[in-house]
Order: sequence, then C-alpha cells, then structure tokens
Amino acid sequence: MQDAFDLVIFGGTGDLSRRKLLPALYSGVVAGRVHPDSRVVLTSRSALGSSQLDWLKELFAVNVPACGVEDKVLAAFSKMVTIVEVGLMEGGDDWAALKTLLSRDDERPLVHFLAVPPAVFTSTCQLLGEYGLNGDRARVVLEKPLGHDLASAQAINEDVGRCFKEDQTFRIDHYLGKEAVQNLLALRFSNILFEELWSARTIDHIQITIAEDLGVEGRGGFYEGTGAMRDMVQNHLLQLLCLVAMEPPARLDGDSIREEKLKVLKSLKQFSGPEIDENVVRAQYGAGAMAGEAVGSYSGDLELQSESETETFVALKAFIENWRWANVPFYLRTGKRLPDRFAEIVIQFKPIPHSPHAGWGKHINPNRFIIRMQPEDHLALRMMVKNHGSATETLKEVEMNLDVVADDGARLGPYLRLILDAARGDQSLFVHRDEVEYAWRWVDNIIGHWQHSPLPPKTYQAGTWGPYEAHDLMMRDGREWFYEPNGRLDNG
Ligand code: BG6
Repeated sequence: MQDAFDLVIFGGTGDLSRRKLLPALYSGVVAGRVHPDSRVVLTSRSALGSSQLDWLKELFAVNVPACGVEDKVLAAFSKMVTIVEVGLMEGGDDWAALKTLLSRDDERPLVHFLAVPPAVFTSTCQLLGEYGLNGDRARVVLEKPLGHDLASAQAINEDVGRCFKEDQTFRIDHYLGKEAVQNLLALRFSNILFEELWSARTIDHIQITIAEDLGVEGRGGFYEGTGAMRDMVQNHLLQLLCLVAMEPPARLDGDSIREEKLKVLKSLKQFSGPEIDENVVRAQYGAGAMAGEAVGSYSGDLELQSESETETFVALKAFIENWRWANVPFYLRTGKRLPDRFAEIVIQFKPIPHSPHAGWGKHINPNRFIIRMQPEDHLALRMMVKNHGSATETLKEVEMNLDVVADDGARLGPYLRLILDAARGDQSLFVHRDEVEYAWRWVDNIIGHWQHSPLPPKTYQAGTWGPYEAHDLMMRDGREWFYEPNGRLDNG
C-alpha cells in the first residue's frame, strides 16, 4: 500500500467530487489501496444540510452501486474526511484555518485537487501560494477543461506556473487512467508483433469513439458555453489519438511519454475553412427516444429561451502528417444521447491483397484490433480462421481475447489511480502544458471557423447515432463506423 497523503478537493461537495472522486477514494479504501491515515479535506462554499455521515451515505447510495456500501467502512471513511467552508476568491480566516488544518511535521504529500471551474484556478493557486500551501510536498491537480481556448489556457498555465513548478502540476485527463489505455501502451511497446504492423503500411484507418447515452444532465450551465469539441475532443479524444499514434518512448517516465505525445499533436494537419466543412461534422440532439422512452431536445432539456449552436456531437476525420501515419485517416466521434454508452479505439488493418480462399463463400473481414474502455475494459484481435468442423469449407471471424483479468479489487478506477499517481509524484499519465496548448491550437482553428460559418450545427434525433453527415463522412471513403452492442464477438 502506498504511503498516507493529504488530499484537498476544492469544489469538494460539487458534481465531480460527488460522482467520481469520493466514490473512487471510497473504493480505494475498500480495496486497501488508500492508506487509512490519509486525510481528505473537502472545501465547500456553504455548510451541508445534513450530517457528514448522512451526506456521504446518500451520495454513495447513488454513486457506488457496484460494491455496495458497508456501514463500518463508511464510518471509517468518514473519519478520514473533513469538510471546511472556504472561499476561492480571497483569503481570510477560512484560509488561515485551512492552513492550520494542513500543517504537519512530516513530509507526506499534499495534493490539491481543483475540481472547480477553470475561472477560479488562478485565484485558488494564488491563495495556496499566499498561505504557504505550495511547498515542495504540495502538488496541484487541475481538472479539465483547462480554459476555453488557447489564450485562456496559456493564461492559466502562466498563473499556475507562478505558484507551482511544472513538476508539481498535474493536469488530469481521466481517460489516461483507464486500465485498457495503459494496456494499449503495454501491448504496443512490449511486443514486436504490434509495433512492426503499426503504420500506414499495414493500417487502413483508426476509429476512436466515446459515445454517451446520457444528455447534459445537471451540467447545462457548464455545457452550454462549452460543447463537445471543448469538453471531449480537445482532451480525451486527442489524448487517445496521441497514445495510439506516438512513437515508442525511450522510457515510461512523464517527460518521455509527454514528448512523444506532443510530437503527434504538432503533426496534426491543420484544416483550412473548406476542409473543416468537409471533414468535421457538428450536431445537436433534438427530441427522440431512449430505450423506448421519449426524451427532450438539448434546448428543451436546458430550457433555453433562444437558439443555441452548442454542439453535443462531433465526428471528424484527422490526419497526422508524419512518416508513420501519412494518409491514414483517424476518425474521431463523440456525442451525448446516443443509443449506447461505450468508448472504443478500433485499429482497422488493410484488406488482404488477394484471397486464395475465393470459393469458401465468406466475406473476408479485415483484421481489427479493438481497445474497449467503456463500459468495461476489453482488448481483442479479430481474425479470420477456418470454420472448424463445418461440413463445407468456410471461413469465420473470431476474436482473440487479450484481456488480463485482474485479481478482485486490483483494478483501479481511473480517478483513484491518478490521485495515487499524483500523491507519488508520477506524472506519466498526466498532460504537459505544451500538450494542452497544442491541442487548443488545433481545436480553436475549427471552433473559430464555426463561429463565422453560416452553416448551423446539424440536428440528430436523441437515441440515434448522430446525423446522416457523420455516416457520410465514412461512406464517402468506402468505410463505416464500427459498432457491436456488447462489444464482443461470440466465437462459437
Ligand atoms: C468528462 C466530460 O470529462 O467526461 C463529460 O466533461 C463526460 O461530459 C465524461 O460525460 C465522460 O467520462 P466517462 O469516463 O464516463 O466516459
């Protein structure tokens, strides 16, 4: 078990903390991954309406369905937690009390997790500096989105950089903490087999999808000013693209990995205006049905009084202009209110040049390597084999399962894993400031074009796979989006 640490979650009673961070920490306590001497301080703008224990119980009842919540463990967890009222715009008695609470004789790590809007990153970091909470044992974790464009991201990076050194700054992208994503790196860089095939010579195209069935739920205020391009593409999708496309790093340390990812971002083809219209589809969901139940439109869900151009869906075709990936399309897609929730990378290899099995009556599917991150981790290689024992000579597609089944409790959820990494000072699964800035450069070019475009976002019915144009993006190239409802091929 890793040493004890102190964690302060700014925005500790907010949405991210309630839905992801506290459940992750609780599961870490249950699995014996979080040292029981660790302390979790939650900052809040106002007092809780109920006792701390009842509040935790209520929120875990909704957010920790898988393992259930035991009263004894919950009571132990609650003892680790302290909730304090702290304002994030100016110092005062609340900050002096926080400083006293956090002062210690030992050098245990002190992690400040900023689960607050980027608009208060600067003031919070300044206050942490002012109250001497940015010393060597301190680290700051910044939740995405880091700003809303390149200029604001640069300003935040500058401001945070005045209070924390780069090796104390942990920009989080929880997709990098997912087990299947790390397994992708293990498979790519520990097997000559994959690395030899990993290029334009053998790969036809790559698809990366993060599909969500939920709408914007209670986050409309945030989402309306953000949209899918800033919320998902700028960070999660581009980070996944980097991990798939980067060159083998010399070592697995933070600097080596981040240098390789940065090279990918720098090689992304910048589209001109007409190329954006051709290669990027944006859309917003209208009313529709999910699992047979009628659901409202985006503007209905948000009770908007005027037209909104915020996109809840993006599909695009990107290119990486380097030797390895020349002319290989990377199709990226994300959307809310789609029929299913899944996240998946599909590497589709080129078709075979000639089939000697012509009379075998079965279409030969190209090989596919599938990395599924959601709803569960799954890695598989799809291949054609002889249909064993059948009366006629036929081929069939089978799936080679590459999963490594972890012992019970050994699989860490992404947020827990990343919090533990931050406490250890390991930056390999965090994002460097240059990566954030290059990703914004690429995304700003597209958003800037949209802002001046007479073409509004397309509409798609809630509960469908996005607008026709998203399919057309593929069909024009003679391809289609890959989707299988349960994500696995039955080999039987
Ligand atoms: C967050 C986005 O970063 O990722 C949300 O802000 C999105 O809009 C979420 O729902 C998806 O994460 P996951 O792990 O549930 O796929």
